[in-house]
Amino acid sequence: MKTVKKAIIPAAGLGTRFLPATKAMPKEMLPIVDKPTIQYIVEEAIKSGIEDIIIVTGKGKRSIEDHFDYAPELEQNLLEKQKLEILEKVRQSSNVDIHYIRQKEPKGLGHAVWCARNFIGNEPFAVLLGDDIVQAETPSLRQLINEYEQTLSSVIGVQTVGDNETHRYGIVDPSQSNGRRYEVSNFVEKPAPGTAPSNLAIMGRYVFTPEIFKFLEEQEIGAGGEIQLTDAIQKLNTIQRVFAFDFEGKRYDVGEKLGFIQTSVEFALQHEDLKQPLLRFLSEIVENESVKVK
Ligand code: G1P
Repeated sequence: MKTVKKAIIPAAGLGTRFLPATKAMPKEMLPIVDKPTIQYIVEEAIKSGIEDIIIVTGKGKRSIEDHFDYAPELEQNLLEKQKLEILEKVRQSSNVDIHYIRQKEPKGLGHAVWCARNFIGNEPFAVLLGDDIVQAETPSLRQLINEYEQTLSSVIGVQTVGDNETHRYGIVDPSQSNGRRYEVSNFVEKPAPGTAPSNLAIMGRYVFTPEIFKFLEEQEIGAGGEIQLTDAIQKLNTIQRVFAFDFEGKRYDVGEKLGFIQTSVEFALQHEDLKQPLLRFLSEIVENESVKVK
């Protein structure tokens, strides 16, 4: 059986929501505490058993390549100063090979995934989006790969969102459920408010059979004038079963400012050395501002 060993991480977006910070720096390099967001994604892929990652980059994304490269001078310097703990953090994992390809024009997520088609070839593969960081006992991508291994079908990671949020996501219209796994009759990208067929939203984790490329090849323009991955999934679902899987774990939205700040606070609270001083600081703020939560 072919299992999932390759993953695509699209990272070609312009990062408009974080301007001016992202004018000269990729949004994927913005740190949550002390790690760039894209490193959390790469680490999840490795923990899920992925061996080859291709990052789809665009203009101005060089620092991503530098980040995942060896840094011999820095490593030497840390070694000489016996800063071994930090050295461990900057050393790159040898369990994975990271490759890069450029998306030449920002034509949307579907197009970014299509750019990696020759790297994937005729194998099942994963896609992880950098705006969603997930903390889970079993990594969210591993949960999807387990589903793939049982069904040999494409599996799309979903979680429930509120009615006021459905318009920001790809939404699935489930026809039948079996535990956390759903059969799906339709996949809709960013339905207008009030028109979503359910509250199950696509959360940036996918496992695909290679047949998805046939539909990405059509390069049909969808919502927002972009080539949408969700539209290709909808078409794939007409020739093969595509399941949605409501994965376990807490998902953090680092693709917009408030979510980014909340994630930073929650992740900082997970660092033993930061937890107490941060809690003190937060309670001081709440007290001083006498915040009235609406
Ligand atoms: C993309 C996908 C959407 C998905 C979302 C998850 O949208 O097109 O289907 O629900 O990621 O974060 P974007 O956030 O890039 O607009």
